Amino acid sequence: MNSALDITALQQAVAAPSFVRNHKLLTWVAEMASLAKPERIYWCDGSEEESARLCEEMVAKGTLIRLNSEKRPNSFLARSDASDVARVEDRTFICCEKKDDAGSTNNWMAPAEMRQTLDGLFDGCMRGRTMYVMPFSMGPLGSHISHIGVEISDSAYVVVNMKVMTRMGRPVYDLLNESEDFVPAMHTVGAPLAAGQADVAWPCNADTKYIVHFPETREIWSYGSGYGGNALLGKKCFALRIASTMGRDQGWLAEHMLILGVESPEGEKSYVAAAFPSACGKTNFAMLIPPKALKGWKISTLGDDIAWIKPGPDGRLYAINPESGYFGVAPGTSEVSNPNAMATLKKNIIFTNVALTDHGDVWWEGMTGEKPAHLIDWQGKDWTPDCGSKAAHPNARFTAPASQCPSLDDDWENPKGVPIAAFIFGGRRSGVMPLVHEAVDWRQGVYMAATMGSETTAAAAGAVGQTRRDPFAMLPFCGYNMADYFQHWLDMGERVAHPPKIFGVNWFRTDENGKFLWPGFGDNMRVLKWIVSRVSGHANGHHTPIGWMPSYEDIDWTGIDMSRELFERITSLDPAQWREELASHGELFDKLKERLPRSFRIRQEQLAQAFGA
Ligand code: GTP
Ligand code: SPV
Ligand code: MN
Repeated sequence: MNSALDITALQQAVAAPSFVRNHKLLTWVAEMASLAKPERIYWCDGSEEESARLCEEMVAKGTLIRLNSEKRPNSFLARSDASDVARVEDRTFICCEKKDDAGSTNNWMAPAEMRQTLDGLFDGCMRGRTMYVMPFSMGPLGSHISHIGVEISDSAYVVVNMKVMTRMGRPVYDLLNESEDFVPAMHTVGAPLAAGQADVAWPCNADTKYIVHFPETREIWSYGSGYGGNALLGKKCFALRIASTMGRDQGWLAEHMLILGVESPEGEKSYVAAAFPSACGKTNFAMLIPPKALKGWKISTLGDDIAWIKPGPDGRLYAINPESGYFGVAPGTSEVSNPNAMATLKKNIIFTNVALTDHGDVWWEGMTGEKPAHLIDWQGKDWTPDCGSKAAHPNARFTAPASQCPSLDDDWENPKGVPIAAFIFGGRRSGVMPLVHEAVDWRQGVYMAATMGSETTAAAAGAVGQTRRDPFAMLPFCGYNMADYFQHWLDMGERVAHPPKIFGVNWFRTDENGKFLWPGFGDNMRVLKWIVSRVSGHANGHHTPIGWMPSYEDIDWTGIDMSRELFERITSLDPAQWREELASHGELFDKLKERLPRSFRIRQEQLAQAFGA
């Protein structure tokens, strides 16, 4: 028992308000403060007033630019340091006791060694800065699928983003009460200020970055970056890397998936979750607007990036979106490609690394057909259409409250979650993968997802157009050995009475000139209609070596000019290409070695035979 006296002393030591009475939390914050040596400690209450105040402070400091209040009310632009524009996968570590438990697809360091490194780095790392304490819930407060975390950060930008992306603040202290069940997440930009030293607009550490996870003790430590998934620790660090290990231990799934609802003209509602790698269109798909010709079909949005999925009492899998906002890629978002996103972005938005117009509004590549004659680019420099550089960074992002999305599903905060009827997996493939196919059973679906590949774009590191295996779109996000993760998926299929059907999609087949063959976007509804109709038993398909596929007649082409010949080109299975594809599955399997489920090699062999190897 902790006496009231103890608590009061602890509260005083860390300047905690009276409503913070959690012993573990107070002790941890005290420890972190003595390590990081901030100038002051600030306990966030998550209020609108607090957010507004911090934004004002950041405007005064030059970290944020207030946008034109008529064009973009209560919205801001942040420009990051040019060295701090995206997640840093090569600086991301999984530190479990045994190297094999992290697996060959993760960077690993022994926990003791990493702790020593971090102790050195974090010592005095917040000098001259404010240490913000942010309690947050991933998922609706009190849902049995939700979990709590507390982030400490020396970045006010992180605070105002976490306020949008998670349920952050006062109610979480109350929910936490005396529970020790929260994930501590320690973040610093790694730029202490000497006495009298002036700050910069985007402090970060250009030389040293560490994004560290201790899955066994469920802790996160992040050093040196203020950007996105490196710094908003509820997102990839907690909701995927730490949560995936919790899911393995506790029998659930934490996935890089959007969640959407589909309603048929008859009013039949189903929910699907889809895993596409980063920059492959999860936000677009989650906010899809069906073509007018498909009368009566409606899509609603639950989430655009992460799903937490737990078995329900009825033998189905139930999903929640643990986030409460969208941290979406701005470039390419337009009234044509994603009208729902554009409507979501009208007010109360934090933009990062987009361009500034002469009217105090924002612009990015692909937003409008015509380029503005003059802009200030994402690095604060003058920009004209002929200057030869991009106005917005390709990974420029918006932080938007989910509540502003016009297509938001009524049940998006249902604490029970929504029952998932189908899982969809899809990468960016110029060939090989057909428009859509359905696994014959769970095990075949798990193989399909495990061997998913995606071609790299200019936004990612490495050569453009190379196929990288991105199992379940989780390559950078799985907090443990990928082979064990495959086994966990196989086990989950056995554990629930009614596992969802599993589908593969590919919106990205191209012709010999690199032009997309499939119209995509809203027309993806046609594929989705086939998928949900397959689940309800109302659509035909024919058998192929990789599962069921629609024939031309099985897809609704109302209102679109789709020739049989074009359909054939986006759905054909080329045996020679497939033999190559299957051989390259072997490269992933070789990497995963002993722990790979044994059935995978057998299935690979069977598939190769079916394609004439
Ligand atoms: P993260 O937030 O990084 O996880 O990514 P995301 O999966 O939400 O992807 P993002 O919104 O960055 O992907 C958008 C990209 O996919 C843009 O280049 C879009 O043009 C493209 N895209 C989305 N849907 C389609 C489609 O149906 N067809 C084609 N050809 N491109 C699409
Ligand atoms: C992704 O890279 O998949 C993202 C962006 O969703 S970040 O939150 O920065 O990881
Ligand atoms: Mn993502």
